[in-house]
Amino acid sequence: QLVPVILSGGAGTRLWPLSRETFPKQLLPLCSERTLLQETALRLGTPPVVVCNQEHRFIVAEQLRQVGIDPKAVIIEPMGRNTAPAAAVAALSLDGQPDTLMLVMPSDHMIRNAKAFRDAVELALPLARDGFLVTFGITPTEARTGFGYIRRGEALGGGYRVDRFAEKPDAATAEEYVASGEYYWNSGIFLFSPESFLAELAAFEPDMVESCRQALAQGQRDLFFLRLSEPVFAAMRGQSIDYAVMEHTRRAAVIPVADLGWSDVGSWSALWQEETRDEAGNVLKGDVVALDTVNSYVRSEGRLVTTVGVENLVVVATDDAVLVADRNADQDVKLVVDHLNARS
Ligand code: GDD
Ligand code: MG
Repeated sequence: QLVPVILSGGAGTRLWPLSRETFPKQLLPLCSERTLLQETALRLGTPPVVVCNQEHRFIVAEQLRQVGIDPKAVIIEPMGRNTAPAAAVAALSLDGQPDTLMLVMPSDHMIRNAKAFRDAVELALPLARDGFLVTFGITPTEARTGFGYIRRGEALGGGYRVDRFAEKPDAATAEEYVASGEYYWNSGIFLFSPESFLAELAAFEPDMVESCRQALAQGQRDLFFLRLSEPVFAAMRGQSIDYAVMEHTRRAAVIPVADLGWSDVGSWSALWQEETRDEAGNVLKGDVVALDTVNSYVRSEGRLVTTVGVENLVVVATDDAVLVADRNADQDVKLVVDHLNARS
């Protein structure tokens, strides 16, 4: 049995002012009329386990209902502790159900070719059954530092053994990796059995596994909601799957995926890249008039927005905030959010 595990706990701060703590990007219809969470849930279509923050539990349940998806469980985190604990509680909730594999999927991506995705998962199943932690490798197009890099080793059942996993290298190292032609970007999607993941996590972070076990045991169940114990979860250190497990495990495999149409919709410039641009290179959304405007992303959620004589800009206007940024500086939008948080 293949269970989708959807991680829906990120804040998406680089997509401010549309993405907010109370309504982060995965719950927004960013690239289609459906939200990223809905798109992710529909990708396999089988009942998923969703792990989310308690503030979002009802929105999550409602968005799944809207697209006819019945969750197997919605695991509620009192606060974010990053992706390793999120995957661990999902694994623990599934552990002991024989022959179960979990497909961990982030909810901050777009995959245009759902068929290619399902084929890649199909190819990965035997490796996961053999106890491998399977990653899906994207051919890198540039030296991005926000991704994990996977170096392929010897061939292994439709893919490769992972020779090295390096999470978020610095720019020079990323350049080297890309130039070598031996590395993939980590797509952030993982396939493994609950037991293999928990065994590997326990080898490197034994306390984390124990805390997750207790958070679940001392939590509360209400219909399909599983609420983790707040004191236990609060006391735990946060860490990502990538740093906690993938950089250390010797049981990792990679399936290269060339034609997924995969993209990370992490920032406004990424959305600009991804979407269909007009002749002047603009992506214009909502009530926007752009004259003599080039290579820009201009989005209005209501009021009229006009631009004249500008290039390479990101302009996003919501009811209560307007962002104007250089398109190349928009990774720094999270600094704005940090600044605003410090001010309040
Ligand atoms: N439930 C839950 N709780 N989900 C979380 C939490 C948490 O505390 N933190 C993050 N997530 C979710 C996010 O919403 C996102 O869908 C996914 O987990 C990945 O987290 P990110 O914070 O977006 O990770 P990243 O983008 O920096 O890096 C990961 O993805 C890259 C590809 O986009 C890594 O796996 C990289 O190696 C990878 O290249
Ligand atoms: Mg991400």
